[in-house]
Amino acid sequence: MQAWVIGNWKQNPATLSEANTLLEALVAANDKGTQQQCQLMLAPSCIHLAAVSARLQDTFILTAAQDISAHSDSSGAYTGDCSARQVADAGATWTILGHSERRQYHQESHETLLNKMSNAFTQRLGVVFCIGETQAQYDAKQTFAVLDEQLSVIKALLTQRLEQSEPQSECVNTLAERLIIAYEPVWAIGTGKVPTVMEVEATHQYIKETVASFHKALPAITVLYGGSVNADNASDFAASSMIDGALVGGASLKAESFLAIANAFNPVKG
Ligand code: 13P
Repeated sequence: MQAWVIGNWKQNPATLSEANTLLEALVAANDKGTQQQCQLMLAPSCIHLAAVSARLQDTFILTAAQDISAHSDSSGAYTGDCSARQVADAGATWTILGHSERRQYHQESHETLLNKMSNAFTQRLGVVFCIGETQAQYDAKQTFAVLDEQLSVIKALLTQRLEQSEPQSECVNTLAERLIIAYEPVWAIGTGKVPTVMEVEATHQYIKETVASFHKALPAITVLYGGSVNADNASDFAASSMIDGALVGGASLKAESFLAIANAFNPVKG
């Protein structure tokens, strides 16, 4: 399975000029004419999306939005929102959804995320769906129960589409081709704390089995790990066949550390 290394820039950098500097360093390192074995993707802030995707157009690096509107996949009276169609028009081919910072600061619910996922797929965007437990839930050994609840959005989407008479094969293909799960324990995000590789492996296995149980025709889903991944610990995660890549926050804001993480995932996954 191909590995994925995705940089989630969050609300960074503060200016387009700084975003361009970071981008140029990444493009220069990737401009050797050959594709890395692992697929790279960048998720800049919405305001930088068009410029970043235009610059990445003839490279092997994909562009993602960090979020899309729940209310309409196209246009409408939703002040402050950007739709799936608008981000696709700006050059994104993927979107992150359900990041814990959106769940926390924007109270994103099951219903909201179901609508967002549906809007993304309607506009043929891929979805990097983030899930993960808080420190309190981890301490109370509730991780799998929390993940069950969060993953139920995918099951609901499948049910919805099948009820709307979408052919089963099309439905399953959409998920197979356009859905990636990112397991990001909330307590590991930006803290420097990471679960052990064995813990991540067990959780990824659980996620893969849970998604597979939603439909018998679903192939194995890609599951990335996110939360304090850096140049020093990336090779530990990359060595595991259960970990299909990384969703990187802080360390994606420096070309050197992001590329070191990408390199860690290059040789071991084919
Ligand atoms: P950090 O890599 O900064 O911990 O952030 C992870 C994350 O939230 C990526 O989406």
